[in-house]
Amino acid sequence: MQCKWTQSYVVFLLTLSLPSASYGSHSFWLLSTYIRGKTQFPKFSYTTTLDDITVGYYNSKTYIPRGNTTNEDDVIDSEYIKGVSDYMYNSFLRRAALLRQDSQNDSLDVYQTLVVCELLDSDKPGKMIVADAARGSTTDELSYINNTFTYTVAVNIKQELIKPHLEKFKQDFAKTFYPVCITTLKNYLKKRRDQRNRKVTPNITLTQKANSDSGESRVSCLATGFYPRHINLTLFRDGQPVSDHEITGGDLLPNGDGTYQMRKSLEISADKHKYSCSVTHLSLDNKLIIER
Ligand SMILES: *[C@@H]1O[C@H](CO)[C@@H](O)[C@H](O)[C@H]1NC(C)=O
Ligand SMILES: *[C@@H]1O[C@H](CO)[C@@H](O)[C@H](O)[C@H]1NC(C)=O
Ligand SMILES: *[C@@H]1O[C@H](CO)[C@@H](O)[C@H](O)[C@H]1NC(C)=O
Ligand SMILES: *[C@@H]1O[C@H](CO)[C@@H](O)[C@H](O)[C@H]1NC(C)=O
Ligand SMILES: *[C@@H]1O[C@H](CO)[C@@H](O)[C@H](O)[C@H]1NC(C)=O
Repeated sequence: MQCKWTQSYVVFLLTLSLPSASYGSHSFWLLSTYIRGKTQFPKFSYTTTLDDITVGYYNSKTYIPRGNTTNEDDVIDSEYIKGVSDYMYNSFLRRAALLRQDSQNDSLDVYQTLVVCELLDSDKPGKMIVADAARGSTTDELSYINNTFTYTVAVNIKQELIKPHLEKFKQDFAKTFYPVCITTLKNYLKKRRDQRNRKVTPNITLTQKANSDSGESRVSCLATGFYPRHINLTLFRDGQPVSDHEITGGDLLPNGDGTYQMRKSLEISADKHKYSCSVTHLSLDNKLIIER
C-alpha cells in the first residue's frame, strides 16, 4: 500500500515539475529524487532519459545503463556523474533540513530536481532548465537560453530555499553544466541510434462487449506494444469515422517495456452498424484495418 502510494506520488511530482514548454527535436533529462522517511526505495536516486528512452539509473551508488548492455562509459564521464550526484545530494539534504521543522509527523517528504537540455532541429544547442520541487510543488526554476538566465521562484516559498550562491551557480552553469549536458545528449544520440530508430508494430484488437444491465455495448479498439509513440487510431462506423465527441479514451499510455498503448472506445445501443478500426504507424507500410 505504502509502496503504491509512494510510486504514484513520485509520478505525480514528475508531471508537476515538467516544464510545459515543448522541447526541440531531442532532449536529455535527468530527474533526481530524494525521499526522507521510511520507504523501500533508495533515499537518493536518479534516472536519465533520452527523448522518451530511459538510458540510465543511479541507485545511490552506481550509474547503471538501461536498455543497452554495451559499455557506455564514454557517454557520461564518471567524474561528472560523481560531481552531479554529490551536488544534488547535498542540495537535497539542505532543502530537507530547512523543511524538517515544518513536518509535524513522520510522513514522507519527497524532493526532486529535474534537469533538461535540448538540441534543436538544426543540431544547435537549445535551452536548458533546472527545476526543483519539494513536497509536490515546484519551488524554483532556472532556465538558460541564448546566454540569458531566467530564475523564477514560486510564491510562498521559504526564502532560504532559493538557491544560495546563485551567481556562482550561473557561472558554473554556462561554463560547465550546459556544455556537458549538450555533449552527453549528443553522445547518447549516437550510442542509442538503433534504439531510437527501432520500429515496433502495434498489436491491435477490436472488441465489442455487451453490458447486460443497460443493454448497451462498448466497442473498443486497443493498439499496444508500439514504438515510436506517434500513432493514428480511428474508429469507423459503416466506413465513416466516428466523431471525437462520441469517443472515450485516446490517451497515449506508456507500457513498462518502453513501448506505448492507446485505446479508443465507443458506447453503442444494440444496432446493426458495422465497426472497424484503422491504425497508421511508422512500422506499418499501409493503413491497417481491423473489422469485426
Ligand atoms: C501527517 O502529516 C500529513 C501532512 O502534514 C497529514 O496529512 C497527515 O494527516 C499527518 N498524519 C498523522 C498521523 O498525523
Ligand atoms: C534565441 O536566438 C535565436 C536566434 O539567434 C532566436 O531565433 C530565438 O528566438 C532566441 N530565443 C529566445 C527565447 O530569445
Ligand atoms: C548499444 O551500444 C552499442 C555500442 O555503441 C551500439 O553499437 C548499439 O547499437 C547499441 N544498442 C542499442 C540497442 O542501442
Ligand atoms: C496480440 O493480442 C492478442 C489479444 O490480447 C494476444 O492473444 C496475442 O498474443 C498478441 N500478439 C502479440 C504478437 O503480442
Ligand atoms: C497521422 O495523421 C496525420 C494527418 O493525416 C499525418 O500527418 C501523420 O503523419 C499521421 N501519423 C502517423 C504516425 O501515421
